[in-house]
Amino acid sequence: MEYRDLLAEAKAARENSYCPYSGFAVGAALLTKDGSVYRGCNVENASYGATNCAERTALFAAVADGRKSGDFEAIAIAGGPKNGALIPCPPCGICRQVLSEFVDPADFRVLWVKEETDDGFNWEEHSLAELFASAFAL
Ligand code: THU
Repeated sequence: MEYRDLLAEAKAARENSYCPYSGFAVGAALLTKDGSVYRGCNVENASYGATNCAERTALFAAVADGRKSGDFEAIAIAGGPKNGALIPCPPCGICRQVLSEFVDPADFRVLWVKEETDDGFNWEEHSLAELFASAFAL
């Protein structure tokens, strides 16, 4: 799958965002090496710390569906004010740690929309290793 299409999946995933407290809607699309896509959105809670980010929602959906460590190629993220334009939304530190549990950080690609354009997106792209050093592991 082309990464521009994965970014479009992330944008579509925003539609289910539950974000009554922040008004900031995030969508994520997790691509497996065999071409499946798992969508996730942020799910907020009145007890703010119980909120789940879009990236973890997508990863947990994939794991619940039977996907394993090493199955994943990339994640795309699209975020911004609920009814507004997309703005850059790099993954938070908790999501970087959680992703690191299931991927090889040197290979796994992390993309986020910088802005929407007439014919798609401008985006930023990194390996997880570039974004997150020294993951905690047991
Ligand atoms: N959020 C995500 O879903 N992913 C991120 O990478 C950063 C933040 C959500 C959490 C919360 O619902 C809202 O964005 C504002 O922090």
